Amino acid sequence: MNIKFEYQPTASDMVILSAHSKNEKVSLNTKCKDIKATFESAKSKTSFKASKGETFTLQNDGTTFLIVGMGDKTKFKSECLRRTFGKVFRSLRSKELNSVSIDALSFKGKFDSVSTCELIYETVLLSDYVFDKYKKTKSDNKIKNLTIFIDDKKLKAKVQKSTERVFNTCESINITRDLVNEAPNVLHSEEYAKIVEKDAKKNLKGVKVKILNKSMIKKEKMGLFLSVNAGSAKEPRLVHLSYTPKKVTKKTKHVALVGKGITFDTGGYSLKPGSSMVGMKFDMGGSATLYGAFRAAVLNNSPYKIDCVLAMTDNAVNSEATTPDSIVRGRKGITVEILNTDAEGRLILADALDYASDLGPDEIIDAATLTGACLVALGTQVCAILGNDNKLISSLKKSAAAQNEYIWELPIIDEWRDDMKSKIADLKNIGSTRYAGTATAAAFLENFIGKDIAWAHLDIAGVCDSQSHLSYCNPKGASGLMVRSVAHYLLNEK
Ligand code: BES
Ligand code: ZN
Ligand code: ZN
Repeated sequence: MNIKFEYQPTASDMVILSAHSKNEKVSLNTKCKDIKATFESAKSKTSFKASKGETFTLQNDGTTFLIVGMGDKTKFKSECLRRTFGKVFRSLRSKELNSVSIDALSFKGKFDSVSTCELIYETVLLSDYVFDKYKKTKSDNKIKNLTIFIDDKKLKAKVQKSTERVFNTCESINITRDLVNEAPNVLHSEEYAKIVEKDAKKNLKGVKVKILNKSMIKKEKMGLFLSVNAGSAKEPRLVHLSYTPKKVTKKTKHVALVGKGITFDTGGYSLKPGSSMVGMKFDMGGSATLYGAFRAAVLNNSPYKIDCVLAMTDNAVNSEATTPDSIVRGRKGITVEILNTDAEGRLILADALDYASDLGPDEIIDAATLTGACLVALGTQVCAILGNDNKLISSLKKSAAAQNEYIWELPIIDEWRDDMKSKIADLKNIGSTRYAGTATAAAFLENFIGKDIAWAHLDIAGVCDSQSHLSYCNPKGASGLMVRSVAHYLLNEK
């Protein structure tokens, strides 16, 4: 699909407009008197109320007009536009329409013109994503030309600039989705590192790429990371990307991102039951989300210095695999009694967080599909945030709110910190009960954060995939959620 921005009307097979309702009165949002008149007479014969997402089709002079209801336009929020428009766009993808034109400013409601155009463009790019590389019959988008018509030439320069930014973010989100959706027999640690390296070298000019292989990870004494990799047929990889902004002073904020990249989680010797194992290819979602956010932040010229550290391995079983009861020393010198090999994410993160701490950042943000307990606490729609710094947590919460992504803070209390202590080693890798599993995992991670570093942990176990209620995400498979929020934070956007 070819997407163009036009500042004067062009002929298309279909034109998309919006209508709103106020005190039961329905009005079409267009300046064109001709269409307004046709709409008034056609509408009187139907029950179209222009409620949110309701659609109505109209023929005028050989063009089909698709009219999308916004309900009360003063209450139409940006997320309403994403969800409504995403649904409309998805239903059109399979139709034989050569050219479709969207009258962007018709959807303006209470937004400003530039953000309306951005939101429409973003929704189109996110809703157009499919993962069909293994299907003989592709679910191709049949729309050849999509025009976003902006009836205001003065906006041209502004829109062009902001849509570039939207494109960079959405392209990065779709890369995150591709990585998460990829099958684990294809995307194992070695391949995952290669794909990220190739993309970063090609698209992220100036970013330094360092990849640590098994012997380098051994030299780093990352015993916890290696213990998870012990049962694997593949080598672990630690991908380290660094970005420095053009203008850098002593005051430039330095952020490190640390992602869980378990390419498949069998549970190890603490084997998952078959039905819980299905879907565990998404256990590298934290690393893919942060790579997406890093990529978007770099392409959109983040003012911060950013390091992105991604720890990659599967959690597999063979005769070499780590058994429960093992005691392993991590890079920081802390020993961990491994009581459950299925609590592996925190082990690889422990060494990666310690490595990231040594880079001297002001802040560390980690993301991981870390606990099933996160789904019990917050469902599949809300991301958990925990950490040691209120300012960082509240800024990330603000970024999520600005992007209409759901995030909720859970506490870390001393009782849970104590609960993660082992009788025979410094720490153990599971709590004594099943309760508060998301927080006990975070209480474990906290031990590996360097002194005076602000830290926030995102447990994306619920939000990483299958967001069937969001029309701009695939109903099954990777959502790409939280990339927008983290990128927003890294770009210091309002
Ligand atoms: N990758 C899983 C977390 C997970 C489980 C995410 C289910 C989404 C759905 C993680 O490695 C894991 O298995 N965690 C265990 C920890 C437990 C053994 C303390 C869990 O959540 O059951
Ligand atoms: Zn696990
Ligand atoms: Zn896992």
